[in-house]
Amino acid sequence: MGLQWNIAVILSSLLLFTSTTKAQSNVFNVVAKYGAKADGKTDLNQPLLDAWKEACELATPSKIVIPKGTFFLSEAKLEGPCKGPIDLQVQGIVKAPADPSAFKEPSWVVFSNIEHFTMSGGGTFDGNGAAAWGKKCAQNKYCAELPINLRFNSLTNAMIQDITTKDSKQFTVNVIGCKNITFLRFTVSNPENSLNTDGIHIGRSNGVNITNSNIKTGDDCVSLGDGSQNVIVHGITCGPGHGISIGSLGKFQNEEPVSGIRISNCTLTNTQNGVRIKSWPASYPGSATDMHFENIVMNNVGNPILIDQQYCPWNQCNLKMPSKIKLSKISFKNIKGTSSNQHAVKLICSSGFPCQDVELADIDISYKGADQGPATSQCLNVKPKLSGKQNPSACSSPAPLPQTAS
Ligand SMILES: *[C@@H]1O[C@H](CO)[C@@H](O)[C@H](O)[C@H]1NC(C)=O
Ligand SMILES: *[C@@H]1O[C@H](CO)[C@@H](O)[C@H](O)[C@H]1NC(C)=O
Ligand SMILES: *[C@@H]1O[C@H](CO)[C@@H](O)[C@H](O)[C@H]1NC(C)=O
Repeated sequence: MGLQWNIAVILSSLLLFTSTTKAQSNVFNVVAKYGAKADGKTDLNQPLLDAWKEACELATPSKIVIPKGTFFLSEAKLEGPCKGPIDLQVQGIVKAPADPSAFKEPSWVVFSNIEHFTMSGGGTFDGNGAAAWGKKCAQNKYCAELPINLRFNSLTNAMIQDITTKDSKQFTVNVIGCKNITFLRFTVSNPENSLNTDGIHIGRSNGVNITNSNIKTGDDCVSLGDGSQNVIVHGITCGPGHGISIGSLGKFQNEEPVSGIRISNCTLTNTQNGVRIKSWPASYPGSATDMHFENIVMNNVGNPILIDQQYCPWNQCNLKMPSKIKLSKISFKNIKGTSSNQHAVKLICSSGFPCQDVELADIDISYKGADQGPATSQCLNVKPKLSGKQNPSACSSPAPLPQTAS
């Protein structure tokens, strides 16, 4: 009896022992286990890839920890498919090389082909981008070759929360081919003079939710490219920046339709534009439908409400040919505040494909430099349905001739 009892105790403590070590082995700390150093110069690349490889092999949920401290990271590609869910805890600051020519590809940190990926921890991805912002990007390839801070390629069921990304050399975050990805309490912090540093760019993805986040940048705070479907942007503060944009659309062949976009409860401050939809004239065909902008506060914003189907920066197109992008089912509701230019509301639609089913409800935007008169509203190839307050008086000013704006 006594022996059996002893064996039972030994066996159960053995079981307990193996189950606790098993639980611990699902946590991969890059410093404790893989030789990473928070000295700001030892490359985190190999320790992070080693931790990723082990975590990715586990069928049970695992966690990779980048603890507090400053880590240098040359670049990283974290790829699936993985056998189980992975949670990446970034508590420290991860810093990129300053020299733009240190990158072979236009990416710094890439996550791809992963299901059930989560990232949190309050840490920061610092793109160290100041050296990249000096050159003009418009007509040369220089900007397109600069690294994007974070890429999320083909992720399914992902959650990114309490993460900061700053000083990106190019776009800050690029989301492509994703299904069900949420950004919660996400921070983008780039200076106003950083060129082409869109905050979060989305394309060809279904089910994207950006909630309660703060974006300061030198380009669009959020931009939605072709194939953006079922996107929610809620509770965002934007500024400095170029506003929240759908498009530009129609520049390339075979673009996918945009549909199901809800932008709500956002505040834009000192931005170049407010909420806008833009497409290129002389464009390839395409469509964007079911796009709604609601409860937006504008503080000193240029072009607070803008549909621009004559989008043609740097005269790169033929303005005489209309855009072939069909825009429909668009609403702007409860949009209030101040405009820094007189044209507070501009709905410039294509002569080839007039906008269908556009609604303006409860608009109250005043022009800050009121010495030149009140705010104006211009419409071209669109007859919006109106309700509630309309300040400026809807479509009351003559539509402009084709012009070249950026
Ligand atoms: C979306 O992804 C989140 C995060 O992984 C997950 O909790 C949620 O269940 C997913 N939603 C659907 C509908 O699969
Ligand atoms: C978007 O994400 C937030 C934060 O997780 C959540 O509260 C909200 O319900 C989500 N909205 C949708 C429609 O999934
Ligand atoms: C969004 O804004 C509207 C109008 O200001 C407000 O009534 C509503 O409660 C807000 N919604 C959320 C979820 O904050």
